[in-house]
Amino acid sequence: MKEDRTQLEVVVVGGGMITHDQILPSLYHLQREGVIGSIKVCALNSTPLRALAESSRFAEAFPGQGFEAFPPLDSPPDAAYPDLFLEVIAALPPGNLVVVAVPDHVHGRVIRAALEHNQHVLTVKPLVPTYAEATEIHELAQARGLFVGVEYHKRFDRRALDARGLYRAGRFGQFRCGEAKMIEPYCYRHSNFQNWFTKDNSDPFTYVGCHYVDLVHFITGLRPVEVSVRGIEGTFPNGNVGYMWAQGQVVWENGALLSVTDGLGYPDEAAGTNDQGLVMYCEADDRAAIIKHDDQYRGVQHGYVDRLVGVAFRFVSPDYFRLVPWDGDGLKPVGYGFESIEGLVQAARRVNAAAADLQGEEALAARRQVLAEIDDRGVLATPGDSWINELVTEAARLSIARNGRPARIEYIPTPTVRLHD
Ligand SMILES: NC(=O)c1ccc[n+]([C@@H]2O[C@H](COP(=O)([O-])OP(=O)(O)OC[C@H]3O[C@@H](n4cnc5c(N)ncnc54)[C@H](O)[C@@H]3O)[C@@H](O)[C@H]2O)c1
Repeated sequence: MKEDRTQLEVVVVGGGMITHDQILPSLYHLQREGVIGSIKVCALNSTPLRALAESSRFAEAFPGQGFEAFPPLDSPPDAAYPDLFLEVIAALPPGNLVVVAVPDHVHGRVIRAALEHNQHVLTVKPLVPTYAEATEIHELAQARGLFVGVEYHKRFDRRALDARGLYRAGRFGQFRCGEAKMIEPYCYRHSNFQNWFTKDNSDPFTYVGCHYVDLVHFITGLRPVEVSVRGIEGTFPNGNVGYMWAQGQVVWENGALLSVTDGLGYPDEAAGTNDQGLVMYCEADDRAAIIKHDDQYRGVQHGYVDRLVGVAFRFVSPDYFRLVPWDGDGLKPVGYGFESIEGLVQAARRVNAAAADLQGEEALAARRQVLAEIDDRGVLATPGDSWINELVTEAARLSIARNGRPARIEYIPTPTVRLHD
């Protein structure tokens, strides 16, 4: 068979929940379609890798497909390899793709290693905790003509894309006041989260509130100017202390207010499977307008004769991610979770394709041209397009550690975050 030089070889760093639920099944489908080549997955230890390799869900959906594990599957479960990803990335030929799916506070280290080895990057949100780090990543990627995509998959939800188009066409007037929430299941407290979701590393606003802050910016184009967040602490089963709940307020440059409620506390046996949604009240010329997204209940209810998912009744979201029958082997991923991964992978390929027959400075200029077009369109989140998120994260982390003291974001002369006196 002729070698396909446009295929990307992929290294995934992190083998936890998001890799299992969304990233790896999406990559398997792209591999089956010939978009990507081999897949390597590197984790801190072999335990999550064995779970991925032995998953009956993947065996049914992607028969005959697999990944190469680092460390190997038969390595002792308690042996940790925190730096192994450096070797796995270094062994990848330049111009391929590193997918970053490690805990929030580890993203920056893996992204920098990937860029320094001339790899494109697809990273889960939030990119990094500070604006300065986002700028550094943006400059490093620009200097080398590499794509960095941040996986804010809600951007690919049709309702968000439609709202963006209509808002920017003036159909809603100006956003004035609103609320967003994302409450993840209580059982997260018993997962690997308890090992890293501590007060120093993250909080529910940073972890999932960022999705809705990004969406309001994505829809309206408004920039945030002030953030305050209060958290409620709790103790994980292993004794670690973290914020279990957080409530934030974001003030936007037109004076609009968004309150954001987040937590690890949706009842495990409720229909959910989490609780989430966005309401934006808007106004113009003596009229009101509204954008309201119920992102929890998408109109599908399943009652099962078994309890394979732990409960017998569920609200199901066919919009985010499902593996469904198709006219091919196994099952096919559908939903904005898949489309987001696909969109970011295809962007990295487009960057390579633009420079396929060029060398040196000409190749670099061609790659930068594609990167500039991606940022101009603003549909894919990149460090060059979505850095307001890092300003908000930086402000939120300052504020939550000071019991909700507001942090201001100033843009002139350069973007800066400062606590209110
Ligand atoms: N809705 C979303 O967009 C969404 C949902 C879930 C998670 N996430 C993000 O994905 C990231 C991971 O979350 P998760 O739920 O999969 O967490 P998790 O705790 O289930 O998994 C983390 C994984 O990272 C690996 N890891 C940690 N340190 C490593 C290192 N030094 N080298 C290699 N691997 C290492 C662990 O082995 C584990 O497999 C977080 O940043 C989270 O915010 C995003």
